[in-house]
Amino acid sequence: MTITPIQAAVIGCGSISDIYLTNLTQKFKAVKVVACNDHNQNKMTEKAEKYHIKPMSFDDILADSTIQMIINLTNPKSHYEVIKAALEHGKHVFSEKMIAVDLADGQALCNLATEHHVRLGVAPDTFLGGSIQTAGYILKNHLIGTPQSVVVSLERNFNIFGDIFPHLNQKGGTMPFDTGCYYLQALASLLGPATRVSAFGKRYRADRVSPRVDKPWFGKTVQVEDDNILTAIIEYANGVLCTVHFNSESIINERKHLEIYGSDGILTLGDPNEFGSPVYLEKPMSEATQFPFTHGFQQNSRGVGAAEMAWSIIKNRPQRASMEMAYHVFELIHGMYKSVQTGNTYALKSTFNQPELLPEGFIDNGFWGPTEESALV
Ligand SMILES: NC(=O)c1ccc[n+]([C@@H]2O[C@H](COP(=O)([O-])OP(=O)(O)OC[C@H]3O[C@@H](n4cnc5c(N)ncnc54)[C@H](O)[C@@H]3O)[C@@H](O)[C@H]2O)c1
Repeated sequence: MTITPIQAAVIGCGSISDIYLTNLTQKFKAVKVVACNDHNQNKMTEKAEKYHIKPMSFDDILADSTIQMIINLTNPKSHYEVIKAALEHGKHVFSEKMIAVDLADGQALCNLATEHHVRLGVAPDTFLGGSIQTAGYILKNHLIGTPQSVVVSLERNFNIFGDIFPHLNQKGGTMPFDTGCYYLQALASLLGPATRVSAFGKRYRADRVSPRVDKPWFGKTVQVEDDNILTAIIEYANGVLCTVHFNSESIINERKHLEIYGSDGILTLGDPNEFGSPVYLEKPMSEATQFPFTHGFQQNSRGVGAAEMAWSIIKNRPQRASMEMAYHVFELIHGMYKSVQTGNTYALKSTFNQPELLPEGFIDNGFWGPTEESALV
């Protein structure tokens, strides 16, 4: 069978674009990136030259009927406008997280995709990686019995992160949106939808003065726009209860914990922000043991969500990194902040169909095996 790839353009040629462009031009056959665009002309021409694609204005990309998909790698604040324009021009969109900044905008984009009969897929796509897919294998084969509860803890030092990337101090960019989403998307893919969330939050040191002499904002006062410590309890529709601890005021760069407790075992997941982080299984009366990977995509495979969506379009089936799941995770995080503000439990309004695990195997072993991409077909 010859593959007719989905022709795509990348919007946003910043930090994350290199791994996307590397993977999409070298690893995946279902997508062909033909063009790129950025507000910043230098970044656009640099990436265009490096990856042998065409630098184009956004308007020309929208007007080009041969470009079927937009891969949106802009900053979260631009997501709404870029996705909206692309959907309105009948293009499929795969966007970096999160879908938007405001909850209502996220919902509007989902409605727009449905109205225009095009796909909208949203990262994180790390849940398609070897690490979380292996965790899914453990759950699917009941190796921990019935999942009962979950602990999520993520600490980061935003005195450092927030000073390098100022958007992390802004609304919609705080740690639950920027990094917590990897944990909540992983859990969504493994456990399905949540029903309710309840949270407490605090904002520490709302005004801070940047100490970095190498940045234009050196010495200026930066506002932290939202709570930077959040604790929450989530109830999932399958009865699992989850405790969440997000602290971006930590003294350490990063520390994380993600564990699912079941009737017959404990599953300790790796870092859901990575593709190949080890997974451990603990059975009664024995020590936790690293579980062999059952799935491929153990290297940095960012772009796999876009490639899987392209295969889904080609094969006319729903994609795994769906807009419904992305919007649900987005609503869950907004629900935490709403619960903090109101003092009430927030009942989720959205739901989604849990994505199927990728087929087992297809672990990259060079010449001698099927390529990892074969798992997406
Ligand atoms: N950097 C990372 O490690 C990382 C990891 C995973 C996901 N992400 C996500 O990827 C996205 C991009 O992050 P980044 O770190 O590459 O940011 P970045 O600031 O390095 O790059 C974003 C680029 O988008 C361009 N841009 C913004 N709005 C635009 C618009 N309307 N039209 C054209 N270009 C526009 C900017 O000029 C910039 O070059 C974000 O959603 C982020 O959450 C980043």
